[in-house]
Amino acid sequence: MDLSSVFSLDGKVALVTGASKGIGFEIAEIFAAAGAKVVLSSRKQQAVDEMADKLRCQGYEASGVACNVGHMEELPLLVEKTVALYGQIDILVNNAAVNPVFGPVHETSLEVFDKIMDVNVKAAFELCRLCYPHLRKSNGASVINISSIGGLSPEPGLGIYSISKAALISLTKVFAKEWGDSKIRVNAICPGLIKTKFSEALWSNDKIMGVILKQLAIKRAGTSEEIGAMALFLASGASSYTTGAVLTADGGFTI
Ligand SMILES: NC(=O)c1ccc[n+]([C@@H]2O[C@H](COP(=O)([O-])OP(=O)(O)OC[C@H]3O[C@@H](n4cnc5c(N)ncnc54)[C@H](OP(=O)(O)O)[C@@H]3O)[C@@H](O)[C@H]2O)c1
Repeated sequence: MDLSSVFSLDGKVALVTGASKGIGFEIAEIFAAAGAKVVLSSRKQQAVDEMADKLRCQGYEASGVACNVGHMEELPLLVEKTVALYGQIDILVNNAAVNPVFGPVHETSLEVFDKIMDVNVKAAFELCRLCYPHLRKSNGASVINISSIGGLSPEPGLGIYSISKAALISLTKVFAKEWGDSKIRVNAICPGLIKTKFSEALWSNDKIMGVILKQLAIKRAGTSEEIGAMALFLASGASSYTTGAVLTADGGFTI
């Protein structure tokens, strides 16, 4: 058995949002290493250019395309540029997310609610919609939505973020059901605490970490590479019978 072919992304084109650092970049890197041509996207052109360069230096095919996914009018151009660069889209990873507030939900303004929902949910919906004509032409299309364990059970102080991540899980299941006929698989990953910039306030605080560690079966924070590996499983033929799944990678936090 040729194990490498099971996880190969040869001939595939992947679009990854929020790919200038953290989990998004690691997903882009492992996809490129598996043979995919990758478009890395985030708000800043310079940031994605630098990270695409980093991949090209390793001999991979990668390009950076700036796009603020919270600005719906920018999304069609992101899809058009991806197709102009590589001719197709087989894999979409909705990874970019924001969490600008911490505190009780009743103190959160409608404006902040809208911002979180735009980036974390509406952009995923719109990118799925815009990529559909390309995904349905693929012989192995996969959409991966990066949710959170906060979408399974609300996290303290992260109310609206948790609501947005729960909506993303529901979006995943709805699209998976509707797109099964088109041979497009749609799955979600729910990371627990992963050591990135996004979660620095948690893992850099010894007191908070002490509390979290007590609830973890695996007594450490996770790494972006560990989420990248799960994303490769979902993007590749290794998961060809998996759709609508919600996979946790949380060190056993939710057990
Ligand atoms: N780290 C964790 O513990 C954890 C746990 C559960 C779930 N997650 C989820 O994992 C995903 C990635 O998080 P991370 O920890 O890797 O975060 P990160 O290291 O802070 O990276 C976030 C990425 O998103 C981009 N981004 C932010 N706002 C954007 C926007 N409006 N439009 C386009 N790109 C945007 C950032 O780039 P620019 O600044 O260049 O735009 C960056 O590339 C998120 O969906 C997050 O909710 C993370």
